Amino acid sequence: MGSRRTFLKLSASAAASAVLSPLAAAELTAGIPATTQSPQALARDEAHWQAIRALYPDQGDVINLEHGYWGKMSTTVEQALARNTHKVNQELSWYARRDYPADFQAARKATADALGVQANELMLTRNATESFVNLITQYSGLRAGDAVLWADADYPEFKRMMAWLASERGVQGHMLSLPARGTDEDYYAAYQQAFDDQPNLKLILLTHVSNQHGLVLPVRRIAALARQRGIAVICDCAQSWGLLDFTLPQLDVDWAVFNLHKWIGSPVGVGALYMRQGSLAAVKPFPGEPAGDDDVANRVHLATSDFAAFLTVPEALAFHRAIGPANKQARLKYLRELWVAPLADSPDVEILGPASMANASGMGGFRLRGKGAKAEVSALQARLEKEFGIFTVVRNDLASGACIRVTPQTFTPARHLQALVEAVRKIAATA
Ligand SMILES: Cc1ncc(COP(=O)(O)O)c(C=O)c1O
Repeated sequence: MGSRRTFLKLSASAAASAVLSPLAAAELTAGIPATTQSPQALARDEAHWQAIRALYPDQGDVINLEHGYWGKMSTTVEQALARNTHKVNQELSWYARRDYPADFQAARKATADALGVQANELMLTRNATESFVNLITQYSGLRAGDAVLWADADYPEFKRMMAWLASERGVQGHMLSLPARGTDEDYYAAYQQAFDDQPNLKLILLTHVSNQHGLVLPVRRIAALARQRGIAVICDCAQSWGLLDFTLPQLDVDWAVFNLHKWIGSPVGVGALYMRQGSLAAVKPFPGEPAGDDDVANRVHLATSDFAAFLTVPEALAFHRAIGPANKQARLKYLRELWVAPLADSPDVEILGPASMANASGMGGFRLRGKGAKAEVSALQARLEKEFGIFTVVRNDLASGACIRVTPQTFTPARHLQALVEAVRKIAATA
């Protein structure tokens, strides 16, 4: 472990190498059109986003509205990954034992910088799930009589893990059924009521953007309320970072889990665990790792993992920055509005989650009114795919029933959303 410990020590040289050379950065982002438009104006500029589309591997004519599973790497990021894979395979442990530690720290520092936190507060992991498992299995804050809380719109696997945690530690576990649709106020009030109803709460899971219908929770306000009541919060940002433009100080939470392989566009296999300085004591080090509460690195043990994926993080972040986090958020929200606005007034269609643009992200969910059974929504998904060539996915974890999740990417053309609107109208007319 000696060499690992050494590379966990952050060094100025590691930080410096996170910055790509100007030439490398220019090659990586070549083809991104320069613009002076505001994010909101740019969101509507199809020519701009079709130029961006050309910078990604082309999927042909498929109307793919399921970009929520993982994100597409740009062609240049894919090439960087190929170069890094080759380097690692060519040089093996000669590289891994000598130079990789500094390169890994550079990737870690670049990620921490992008999230607006210190590098010792953020450790790279393989995915958000690994970060979450580390937090809950190493969490030592529960005593008999305590309770933990999660919500129906949380990520299904995390909900099951919260239930496991409750049963494993012999504490109460509660699932909060959130309103099927609502405003920030509605969702804040739902958590406030849950906190009032369960004064013994010690830990809650809070999902920044739900993977069911793209709802954005008012995390900062709910976390502040939790803090007043002595409740620890794990914020799940797996679906939010890159879909929304934010840094961690804006959320003001102690613990958060991320991946970079959805909306940052890194290779698959990169996640992150954030623990604010001063908040580590309640979460033990990973089994066998040395004691110490100054650096979150000892809460994780990566072992042999995808070296090349981690090495490509600075490139992925540079590409993300060059497109513009605010531009991405605005474009994705605009694309959601293109299908939600025309369908929202239809008596046949039920839009789920956000009641307005204010708490919406680029991801959205809907179903035909009164048809929330999984079989009914699966039939709708199949008709969209087979009759109209529109690919979406069924989500089945909301208390109110199943829904179709619609997730464009920034480069999805507006006409793909218009095709969705026409298809849903036709299906609703014959259903
Ligand atoms: C809201 C949410 N949380 C957590 C995860 C898990 O992320 P990962 O696959 O990186 O572990 C996902 C993945 O879809 C998600 O959407």
